[in-house]
Amino acid sequence: MYPIIRNRRLRASESIRNLVRETSITPHDFLVPLFVEEGKGIKSEIPSMPGYYRFSLDLLKKEVQELWSMGLCGVLVFVKVEDALKDNQGTEAVNPDGLMQRAVKTIKDVCPGMLVMTDVALDPYSSYGHDGIVEDGQILNDETVEVLTDMSLSHIEAGADFVAPSDMMDGRILSIREAFEDAGYHHAGIMSYSAKYASAFYGPFRDALDSAPGFGDKKTYQMDFANRFEAIRETQLDVDEGADIVMVKPGLAYLDILREIKNEVDVPVAVYQVSGEYAMLKAAAEKGWLNHDAVMMEQLIAFKRAGADIIASYFAKDAVKLL
Ligand code: PBG
Repeated sequence: MYPIIRNRRLRASESIRNLVRETSITPHDFLVPLFVEEGKGIKSEIPSMPGYYRFSLDLLKKEVQELWSMGLCGVLVFVKVEDALKDNQGTEAVNPDGLMQRAVKTIKDVCPGMLVMTDVALDPYSSYGHDGIVEDGQILNDETVEVLTDMSLSHIEAGADFVAPSDMMDGRILSIREAFEDAGYHHAGIMSYSAKYASAFYGPFRDALDSAPGFGDKKTYQMDFANRFEAIRETQLDVDEGADIVMVKPGLAYLDILREIKNEVDVPVAVYQVSGEYAMLKAAAEKGWLNHDAVMMEQLIAFKRAGADIIASYFAKDAVKLL
């Protein structure tokens, strides 16, 4: 009790604060989302994500080499699919020569050590902008899981290390895991978006990939953001079905869920600081209303403190430059 105990002794100088700090960030904490599009010589800025780009495959090589040289060792790949290739069955998603499959090969060619994770969901491929096959206004579950499973196999065949199903269909982790085992892909990993909420924070991402839902919303498959127990149930099921890593998404507004899941499961837990979170800080900083670097680091540390083992973030490069 005071004055025997004075908590400020442990805050009195930079050195003592450095010694007693509980949480830190390294380049190895990050997964870097990469947006890829068809073409040559393209590095096009996403208007609602200042400082973030879509790359054609030739320029993707340079970007990946730069990430690797900074100590960033994992990427999460997303593709923008041409309208003419979109349909309701995800036909292009399983094309062995599709953009995703070529992107994986390109990354592995220039940087074999880079851990490559691929997004698995139908929305960029869907003429309806939904994560699954649509029939009579409904998103079909089991039919979608079949396509997602074939899609996952084709990503591993192309050389991906992990697939990252972001679709929230029931039973997809088990189906993908069994298919990997049957095919002899015993080391192919699955990072499941297990507690993924139906969030308004995904807006800029949907601009980046031109993948906004053409009708309705995603509330029949992504989770209600009012729910907590449901997140634990979803995540435990995914672990039981064979997920190697689980994920909470979005990040900042869901730190309670992140901590709870970290306490509940013993696989690594990832968090996704999503596009809307990135856009908010960039916009406030542009206006001079927030200190960009300070707020960015405070948020990233908050994810670690809340229990994240891995952070998927559009700020990865910005942050590593400051470390
Ligand atoms: C697609 C997918 C989305 C994100 C990752 N994968 C969008 C969505 O579910 O509508 C969002 C990422 C972000 O906003 O940064 N299944």
